[in-house]
Amino acid sequence: KILILDFGSQYTQLIARRVRELGVYSEIHPWDWTAEQIRGFAPKGIILSGGPETASVDGGPKADPEVYAMGVPVLGICYGMQTMAAELGGRVAPSSKREFGYARVARTGPCRLLDDIEDAVTTDGLAQLDVWMSHGDRVEAPPSGFSVVAGTESAPVAGIADDGRGFYGLQFHPEVTHTLQGARILGRFIHDICNCGNAWQPGNIIESLIERVRDQVGAGKVLLGLSGGVDSSVVAALLHQAVGDQLTCVFVDNGLLRKDEGDQVMATFAQHLGVKVIRVDAEDRFLSALAGESDPEAKRKIIGKTFIDVFDEEAGKLTEVDFLAQGTIYPDVIESAGAATGKAHVIKSHHNVGGLPEHMKLHLVEPLRELFKDEVRKIGLELGLPREMVYRHPFPGPGLGVRILGEVKKAYADPLREADDIFISELRNHGHYDSVSQAFAVFLPVRSVGVMGDGRRYEHVIALRAVETIDFMTARWAHLPYEFLDHVARRIVNEVDGISRVVYDISGKPPATIEWE
Ligand code: XMP
Repeated sequence: KILILDFGSQYTQLIARRVRELGVYSEIHPWDWTAEQIRGFAPKGIILSGGPETASVDGGPKADPEVYAMGVPVLGICYGMQTMAAELGGRVAPSSKREFGYARVARTGPCRLLDDIEDAVTTDGLAQLDVWMSHGDRVEAPPSGFSVVAGTESAPVAGIADDGRGFYGLQFHPEVTHTLQGARILGRFIHDICNCGNAWQPGNIIESLIERVRDQVGAGKVLLGLSGGVDSSVVAALLHQAVGDQLTCVFVDNGLLRKDEGDQVMATFAQHLGVKVIRVDAEDRFLSALAGESDPEAKRKIIGKTFIDVFDEEAGKLTEVDFLAQGTIYPDVIESAGAATGKAHVIKSHHNVGGLPEHMKLHLVEPLRELFKDEVRKIGLELGLPREMVYRHPFPGPGLGVRILGEVKKAYADPLREADDIFISELRNHGHYDSVSQAFAVFLPVRSVGVMGDGRRYEHVIALRAVETIDFMTARWAHLPYEFLDHVARRIVNEVDGISRVVYDISGKPPATIEWE
């Protein structure tokens, strides 16, 4: 396995994902891990991530010297290369020219990491790599034992190598897809230089996940809040295999779900898989709690609090619960670890079950906490969950509550559900569903004039939103074909009562967010 020491780069998670995609298990830990922790992990290789700090000033974060003393290969990326160079006696200085984005790097010397990897060769025989750079500092002189193996005009030392010790530094980012040969470079490091096999596959660890759950839970009883989202669904399927009837799921229907969602969850889990699921129909309770409120943040809080109240009440009815299961996944763990040490830059508050009933004193079971989303999906498929469930677009916790602008009413939620269902099923029918990252309908409680049959009517408006995005932090609107949008709009106006106008949202994020509230 590979240890990734995190110096705070926004790309650190990508490094771990790429390494795992190449068939090698990897974990991310903070850069100030102690020698003992590093030895205890027993890595076959270490990758030092990029980061926002500067190594040219004394006191920039440095990894424990054990990293360079334990006889395993080390790859430093961006800041990781600079801190390695500085710690091993090289010279790092601020660069007069900063480089961000696309760059062409020349391979200027032989090394095991980059030999025979190139995008182009110049007429005078210099191999070139198309890469993604982002740096302010640069290495001026490599430490002794290293040779310079790659460079650009503004960063003549863009790659350093010490084949003897297996130490390498790259100023560019092999983990991002803009670096065309990035996966080959990382593969070279972990397979050829660190001698890792390529056996890691999420499906292979199902047995050991199940074993671990059994060890932890023993004969105890487990409670799980099942939302129908990917993570909690996979936890339910996994725990059911591990401990069968010791698991009880509580599924809260808040009346703000997509069309038929509650029935589908029950069909999949209760009927098909035989999981014990308690379905709580709490539509009235949520809607009356929301009555009269039109502020988006207040609505979110009401929905969150009502959920916890309902969940706690159900949990309280069960006797002898010992464990609470949660669909925490690796990015959540990394983010909260970063938050604890003050190193993370983006910190989200998570919408997992917040307040457990105090008196219940439950222990947590989080079987997916070392897995990335794509790995969780693969495991879900292997556990027999339907593909549509495992590859479903994300759906916000507050559900349609934030897709009905202003006050939430059943009279708005019902037509919105119908319109959304038409849009989503047509996306599926026309093969667009998997090429957009998220798509949905929004209910606009304004009235607009329409002519229907014999007269003028003032009716509500539906907005359609479809976006393409990798990380949901930025997004572009999906350029769906006009004919397709036309077809969907006609169906909505013809089939959904009270809607006379459909608009398509062509705003990017930023400045617009993906949701409308
Ligand atoms: P925005 O609207 O911020 O959305 O661009 C980014 C992603 O987050 C989802 N989202 C939420 N998820 N609770 C959630 O669990 C929320 O309150 C919430 N608000 C937005 C949104 O659907 C998109 O995938």
